[in-house]
Amino acid sequence: MAEQKPVTTLKLQKMKEEGTPIVMVTAYDYPSAMLADEAGVDMILVGDSLGNVVLGYDSTIPVTMDDMIHHSRAVNRGAKRAFVVTDLPFMTYHGSVDTALRNVARIMQEGGSKAVKLEGGREIAATVEAIVQAGVPVIGHVGLTPQSVHALGGYRVQGKSDAQILKLKDDVRALEQAGATAIVLELVTAELAAEISSGLAVPTIGIGSGAGCDGQVLVFHDLLQYEAAPAAKRFVKAYANIGQEIRQAIAAYATDVRGRRFPAPEHSFKAAKPEPGAAPVEAKAAQETAAAEEAGILYGAGK
Ligand code: KIV
Repeated sequence: MAEQKPVTTLKLQKMKEEGTPIVMVTAYDYPSAMLADEAGVDMILVGDSLGNVVLGYDSTIPVTMDDMIHHSRAVNRGAKRAFVVTDLPFMTYHGSVDTALRNVARIMQEGGSKAVKLEGGREIAATVEAIVQAGVPVIGHVGLTPQSVHALGGYRVQGKSDAQILKLKDDVRALEQAGATAIVLELVTAELAAEISSGLAVPTIGIGSGAGCDGQVLVFHDLLQYEAAPAAKRFVKAYANIGQEIRQAIAAYATDVRGRRFPAPEHSFKAAKPEPGAAPVEAKAAQETAAAEEAGILYGAGK
C-alpha cells in the first residue's frame, strides 16, 4: 500500500538527496488522476499534451488557459496524494511577467494545482524567478520543448551538438538559480541527461532521456496505449493496451445490442412490487430498483 501523506516539494527534494526515483505520469481527468494516485505515483502532470491525446490536435500549440484549468480541476478532484503540476500553455508566460503571474494565479486558484511547469531555459529564468518569489513552485522543462516544435524543426532528440550541449547546461543552471523545484529533460541524450542530473541540486525528471535522471515521466496514453492507433515511440514502454481492450469491449456491446442480448433482465428495473408469481430474478430487480433509487446511484460510478 502506497504511503498516504501528500507529496510536497520538500519530499521531492529529499527523494533527490536519497537517490529515490520520482515517478510522474500525466493525467487529464478525474478517473485517470484517481487511478494514477491510487497506483502511488509521486507527481501528476496535467500536461498540455492533452492537446494531442485528449483534444485531437496535432501539437500543443492550440491549447488554451481555459483548457488547462478545466482539466486541472478534474485532476485535482481525483488526486489525493500526488503532487499535481499544470503546464502553462503556449505563449501564456512570454511578454510581461505580470501576464505570466496572472496566468499562474488562475492555474492555482481556478485549477487547484500545486505547481506550474514552463518550457524554456535562460530566456524565461526571470519569469520563473518572479513566479517562485510569488510563492508558487515551478517545474522547468528543457530539451525537446513541444511548444517550440516549429523553431526546433520537429520532434527531435536534443543535446547532440556541442552548441546544444552548452545551451542545455546553461539553461538548467539558470532554472536552478531561478528557484525551480525540478526540471523535466525531454528527449535529451542519455549521457548529457545523466551529467546534468548529477550536477544539479534539484531533481531532474526525464522523458526519453535515459536512466540517469532523478525521476521519469510518461504520458498516460502512451504508457497504457490508450489510443485508437498508438504510434511506436522508442522512449515509451507500454504497460497495457487499453485502446485495443476498449475497442473490443465496445464492439462486444454493439454486438449484444444488435443481437438483443443487452440489456438482460438483471440490467432492467421493474415496478417496486413484482406481480404475484413473478420470477425470482424480476422480484430481485424490483427490490434493487427501489434500493438504488433511494441510494441515488443510478448514474455513473462516481462518488
Ligand atoms: O505535456 C506533457 O505531457 C509534458 C510531458 C511530456 C513532460 O510536458
